[in-house]
Amino acid sequence: MSTSESAIELHCRRTAAVAVEVGMRAGVDLAAVRRAALLHHAMPGPVPGGCAGGGIGARGGGGLGRLAWEVVCGEQARDIHGIVQISNLLDEQLEALEFEYRDMDDILDEIQSFAYFEGFDAALVDHLRAMRCRDFAGHLKLPVEAGSAHRVLRTLRADPDTSIQALEKIALSDPVLTGCLLGVANSALYGRAYRVGTVRRAIASIGLIAARRVMLAAAMKPVFAGPGMKRLWTHSVSSAPLTAALAETTGLLNGEEGLLLGLMHDIGSVALQFLPRETLACYRRLMESGCPQTYVEHLLLAQDHGEVGAELLVQWNFPEAFVEAVRFHHQPERSASSVAAMAYLAEFWSGTDEDMHSFGRVEVCLSRTGMTQEDLIELRTQDAALHALRGVA
Ligand SMILES: [Fe+2]
Ligand SMILES: [Fe+2]
Ligand SMILES: [Fe+2]
Repeated sequence: MSTSESAIELHCRRTAAVAVEVGMRAGVDLAAVRRAALLHHAMPGPVPGGCAGGGIGARGGGGLGRLAWEVVCGEQARDIHGIVQISNLLDEQLEALEFEYRDMDDILDEIQSFAYFEGFDAALVDHLRAMRCRDFAGHLKLPVEAGSAHRVLRTLRADPDTSIQALEKIALSDPVLTGCLLGVANSALYGRAYRVGTVRRAIASIGLIAARRVMLAAAMKPVFAGPGMKRLWTHSVSSAPLTAALAETTGLLNGEEGLLLGLMHDIGSVALQFLPRETLACYRRLMESGCPQTYVEHLLLAQDHGEVGAELLVQWNFPEAFVEAVRFHHQPERSASSVAAMAYLAEFWSGTDEDMHSFGRVEVCLSRTGMTQEDLIELRTQDAALHALRGVA
């Protein structure tokens, strides 16, 4: 998504993406729907929901507005106008979620209740309802590689003072851990004239704390190895040092827990790759057309990947505070947890486009974690070993 696009252009793009999906189900000309939605702020006259744009069905609409819609949409102008209206109303409601959380069914009921006064066919809203995948929970799982990742995480978390011998034993049990430790120890970061050839020497040379952190990250790497997961892995391993630094600055978690939170925060997105095929195709189309990930998730699943990931972490017996932070890392206003606020700040500061950026949320989260904007700006990602891991990943 381009940052040079104005808020209104982004709104029109999202409206067009949703309108095309509704148009597919309503059987109208998709090129015309897309064009009309992209242009709906340039049409003359008022459109319900506070937008500029001309109406057809709307009471008081007509005249120049009607002519404009007929030029853009042809014979299907009335249906297409209704589709753009409901898509526009939906976008406004999803944009407002940062101020007041509302259930997706309530949002759709309210949009449908506008039909009579706004002059669109109420049945069009049923196409939005039909996009919802209501029984996805049974489809969600993690790749088989998650089993060994879980074992490593459990072993490392059980003993924060692991000896070099114990770390070596864990590392030797998994070729990915071995490879990553050797890769980091031999990376340019450490600038050695000789190559480190054994796991024990690799751990000794980078230090126990860095070795534990590299192993935590390396254990998670195969979980993100599926098709299309590379970008998510890069994002996770990049935001982990940032979350660790935030955790240490705020004192809310220790650095290693922060690192783990950064590595795990989007684990729900991995599970969503196992959505039913039709829903997954719609999910990808909407994102490719300009809708942020959490926006699409609310529309199709009535929850976001944070909520999905939290359920997986419950199964892995992560502490409640950690689960809460993952659950609400895109909706910190729904939780009193300062760790969730910290996770939001880390997600925001990593520059991700998973949600619609909200400076209101940033302000609330800064105050809840006792930080200032200056603290956030000055925060540096210090974990050089993890950066090296990204290089060998
Ligand atoms: Fe609009
Ligand atoms: Fe996320
Ligand atoms: Fe993320």
